[in-house]
Amino acid sequence: MSKKYLLTTALAYTNGPLHLGHARSTYIPADIMKKYLKLKGKDVIHVGGTDNHGVPITLTAEKEGVKPEDIVNKYHNEIKRDLDNLNVEFDSYGKTHSDIHIETAQEFYKKLKENGYIYEKDIEQFYCPKCDRFLADRYVEGTCPFCGGEARGDHCEVCGRHLEPTELINPYCINCNTTPELRKTTHRFFKLSALSDDLRKYVESSDMPEHVKNMAYSWIKELHDWDISRDIKWGVPIPDSENQVMYVWLEAPIGYISFTKQLGDVWKDYWLKKDKNENDSDVKIWHFIGKDITVHHSVFWPGMLIANGDYNLPSSVISGGYLTLEGRKMSTSKKWVVWVDDFVKYFDSDYLRYFLMVNAPLNRDCDFSFDEFQKRINTELIAIIGNFTHRALVFSHRKFKAIPVVDEDSLKEEDKELISKCKETVEKVDKHIMEFNFKDAIMDIIHLAKEGNNYFQKMEPWTVEDEGRLKEILYTCAVVVKYIVYLLYPFMPNKTMKLLDLMNEELDLEIRGNDLKKPKVVFTKIEDDQIKMVKGKLLKSEEAKEKKKNKNKKDKKEKNNKDENKNNKENEKGDSMDLISIDDFAKIELRVAQILEAEEVPKSKKLLKLIVDIGDEKRQVVAGIKGHYEPSELVGKKIVLLCNLKPAKLCGVESQGMILAAGDEVVSLLTPDKDVPVGSKIC
Ligand code: 2FM
Ligand code: ZN
Repeated sequence: MSKKYLLTTALAYTNGPLHLGHARSTYIPADIMKKYLKLKGKDVIHVGGTDNHGVPITLTAEKEGVKPEDIVNKYHNEIKRDLDNLNVEFDSYGKTHSDIHIETAQEFYKKLKENGYIYEKDIEQFYCPKCDRFLADRYVEGTCPFCGGEARGDHCEVCGRHLEPTELINPYCINCNTTPELRKTTHRFFKLSALSDDLRKYVESSDMPEHVKNMAYSWIKELHDWDISRDIKWGVPIPDSENQVMYVWLEAPIGYISFTKQLGDVWKDYWLKKDKNENDSDVKIWHFIGKDITVHHSVFWPGMLIANGDYNLPSSVISGGYLTLEGRKMSTSKKWVVWVDDFVKYFDSDYLRYFLMVNAPLNRDCDFSFDEFQKRINTELIAIIGNFTHRALVFSHRKFKAIPVVDEDSLKEEDKELISKCKETVEKVDKHIMEFNFKDAIMDIIHLAKEGNNYFQKMEPWTVEDEGRLKEILYTCAVVVKYIVYLLYPFMPNKTMKLLDLMNEELDLEIRGNDLKKPKVVFTKIEDDQIKMVKGKLLKSEEAKEKKKNKNKKDKKEKNNKDENKNNKENEKGDSMDLISIDDFAKIELRVAQILEAEEVPKSKKLLKLIVDIGDEKRQVVAGIKGHYEPSELVGKKIVLLCNLKPAKLCGVESQGMILAAGDEVVSLLTPDKDVPVGSKIC
């Protein structure tokens, strides 16, 4: 029986549009595979959509003062726009915040429960008494117990450690800054740990690449049961629980099934096992993802499918590496990112598809640099493929207005040799693509174009007077062009379709001898000015920041020089560093204080007004830390206060003490290393 291919792409969170990293790791590779299999006449569908639940989406909605649905709809549309602009085609594209998905996810859950894989357990969770709700991990922040940095409930950005919210020092509710309390709640757990043996066998027998298998084995060794309930409202309600929704990673991958269902009964052919004990061997389910979510697709999701029992398991997980931008990690918060929507305003998306695939093998990390992009497009794609296809078509059009058709048997040896190279290239490219080795597939197509160029150069058709021979040469060239177009189509659908239109041809390997249209340049060069302009526009925000940073550095250096001159003058007067006695130090009263309130001092660029608790009284203090800390992140923090400083007015606001901080460019408040009581004296 011929195989059925179901390709899926990771469901993007609807809290932002797509950037080049998403395009490279996931969507372009899946679309290339889809177009290629389709070209070969295979039964293939591509299913995808967006992931609409999870706390980051509610956080974005709260920040913008809108409903989660509004955020979801906005970015669902923007993500689809980006995919359309990249020419990524779907047979079904859905949303996890939809009836069909919610119903499918709930049925899936019920089956897990029926099969004995769900149990209940009481756990303690942070609860904000002021907001009157349990706090999901991301709703709690505090101090990282490992590095002292500011950390989210589940992760410390500073040291990169995974955290449990209860590990945080001085935790606070990010909505109202109140210190949360621990309360009991009953959660549902998925018995993932019971699936170790089954999962190991499954991974072993799958088609996953070796590095993915190894990653999966190391996770399988340490499997824990999965807490799959969340005490929040936004999500897929758990059928047997009030006020709880499913953990987003439990329900999101079920979207691959729900969205296939949108196609009607045919969904069953891909997903439902014919024999309860075995995967259908004629179905290939391939998940295209970014490498950060490999474990979810190679272990957790297959675990869910094994526990459910009704569905086919993925045959392979294709995980694309990370993309850096101009040598630096992309960061949406630092605005070091190129959005797909911006990119396609300046360049044909085919150039992006080409470059991102030829730049490095898919499973490796790679870099996007505008200069490298320009270089590869101009010197490789245009100079080799563009040049050959254009010359061949222009010459045939000039001489015959059509592609001359000849009897292949009568061709000369050198013509036949080139045609057999075309056929060999088809085999090589096929092997590479079916192994997800897109880079080598493109390199083979380039190589064929080089052969074409060499042949054209050697044959010198402009010197050939014998019309029969000229027809043979141009026919041979047309065959090469046709093969290039066919093989390049999955990578560059726009450009290849333009070439086909000029040739008046179909997307196959035949030559029909139709009339040619007047050739136009299909592959246009990227000019230096253009790349400079685009760099200026798309890398602007970061560059501006960089300039500002350099200016600050320069200002600081000038200030230091001035201070140094001043010090030198003072030293010349005979003063060295003033030493103080221990009695002098004893005059200073330093205490651990806790910030209770923080707000900006109006009209001041640097000052924040704080109310701090120093144990036996509350003080108002003005601190020059605006811009280094948000007022909301200060509340609850324990800091060090110089208490016996003469009160002074700053910007008209009285300050009864001084907060201790270190640093210039990066200003850091001094905080106690351990949780000591407020008011503790420092000596
Ligand atoms: O990491 C992410 O962007 C997730 N939204 C991917 C989910 S893929 C699938 F499991 F739904
Ligand atoms: Zn709160």
